[in-house]
Amino acid sequence: MVAQSEQDVVASELRWGVFVALVVAIIFAAIVWAAVAMGRNPPSDGGVIDPKTLHLSREFTEANLGTSVGQDGAVVARVVAAQFQFIPACIVVPAGRPVTLRFSSPDVIHGLLIVGTNVNTMVVPGYISQVRTVFSRPGVLLMPCHEFCGLGHSQMIATVRVVAPADFKPGPDGRVACAHG
Ligand code: CUA
Repeated sequence: MVAQSEQDVVASELRWGVFVALVVAIIFAAIVWAAVAMGRNPPSDGGVIDPKTLHLSREFTEANLGTSVGQDGAVVARVVAAQFQFIPACIVVPAGRPVTLRFSSPDVIHGLLIVGTNVNTMVVPGYISQVRTVFSRPGVLLMPCHEFCGLGHSQMIATVRVVAPADFKPGPDGRVACAHG
């Protein structure tokens, strides 16, 4: 191989530098395009909330937790992820219909996934994690915490009861809860 001059080396480095910069620019543009034009954002973009007063006002008070159906028919389930349980520990959602899941944490970082679905998010104190999904068929699904959050992490698991549309019956207040016992 012919020995390269210093200038050849510099020119080669510059070419590769430009190539790498282009690749980075393309990937960055794709991320911005997905976020702005397609609305694909990380699940944690559901708003901010003070973890210290999470339970005292706004949407994560005890009476607001669980599944509710709004006037417009929108199904929203709110769950607090705390050391070391989900509150409530069971939610009911309808199959074949858009569901919005909203989570928040009063203490440390948790995470969750619903087995067999595309629901998978972290729950960071101070933020509301929001996931929109459609559960394809009825069944009982597990929702474990998947972010190590302390000694009780392995016990932190909730149940998602996906019911057929005909079995999804909100009460007069629009709320649906898991049957006890
Ligand atoms: Cu909560 Cu691990």
